[in-house]
Amino acid sequence: MVERKDKVVVVGAGLMGTGIAHAFASSGFTTVLVDTSAAALEQSREQIGKILDDGVKLGKVEAAAAGASKARLTVETDLAQAARGANLLVETVSEKLEVKKAVVSTAAPLLADAAVIATNTSALSVTEIATAVTSPERVVGMHFFNPVHKMKLVELVRGLATSDETVLRCRAWSDAIGKTSIVVNESPGLTTSRMSALAGNEAMWMLQEGTASAEDIDTAMRLGFNHPMGPLELGDLTGWDTRLSVLRYLHSTLGDKFRPCPLIIKMVAAGRLGRKAGHGVYQYEGGQRVPGSGLKASAL
Ligand SMILES: NC(=O)c1ccc[n+]([C@@H]2O[C@H](COP(=O)([O-])OP(=O)(O)OC[C@H]3O[C@@H](n4cnc5c(N)ncnc54)[C@H](O)[C@@H]3O)[C@@H](O)[C@H]2O)c1
Repeated sequence: MVERKDKVVVVGAGLMGTGIAHAFASSGFTTVLVDTSAAALEQSREQIGKILDDGVKLGKVEAAAAGASKARLTVETDLAQAARGANLLVETVSEKLEVKKAVVSTAAPLLADAAVIATNTSALSVTEIATAVTSPERVVGMHFFNPVHKMKLVELVRGLATSDETVLRCRAWSDAIGKTSIVVNESPGLTTSRMSALAGNEAMWMLQEGTASAEDIDTAMRLGFNHPMGPLELGDLTGWDTRLSVLRYLHSTLGDKFRPCPLIIKMVAAGRLGRKAGHGVYQYEGGQRVPGSGLKASAL
């Protein structure tokens, strides 16, 4: 159903496109990475080279295999040129509906017969993106996780028109690049963002109420449930501004259980956005968390 000779086009050479192009090229697929920015493409190529070289140094990848992966990847600023004859297009450009629709409508007529068009959107509607093409049954969500070379999950998202065959083929491509896929009907927050947003919000309510310290809430989830990271640590990593906008969207679509905790709103107003700001629930110095720096309930 899917073959190693399939040509894969990844559009958008940002954080995610870089990881997705690496995944396909290193799994034996002829891969073309497209971006409007030549600088982004160059940076992406360097980053992919570094992931492969690090794999060789760690003994996880053979030098010849790393070289072959690099040779299978080409970069291109001309989308029409890249799309010609491709069997799978993975769109992972900036999270703007109009930009995504323009990309898929330009590429669709040039792809191979029966090609699949996948979108890596985190929150936009697959159904709506599919309105930009004449075969909406071939459009599907293929939601990857960051960093792509370490995260095993792909959420396959069925839009209203997505066919069973499209989902099955995407599942086969996911398998072929070593990922585990789940199938989700299009709905706000899919499975992952919806559960993670709820847990992070609840952790903030507990912190605000003084139920336990930040450190103890995180330790509870790490040691009690084997989560690799506590919900407050994770919120600091994601950024509380991003968290807040996701919660507001889920609140408006799924109801009151997603009402953002006032402490998140207060932290965002104060610029305490998390690791990227050097200060969130915890403080960071030189990229390292300062021990004992968790926000104290007594300060709220
Ligand atoms: N960052 C994450 O953790 C994450 C996780 C899952 C899904 N996503 C989704 O993946 C997509 C990309 O996210 P990202 O974090 O990699 O973004 P990014 O900003 O790092 O990269 C986006 C890239 O798209 C390029 N681009 C914009 N318009 C283009 C066009 N018309 N044609 C070609 N290239 C174009 C930009 O030049 C940029 O290099 C978004 O839809 C996002 O919601 C992100």
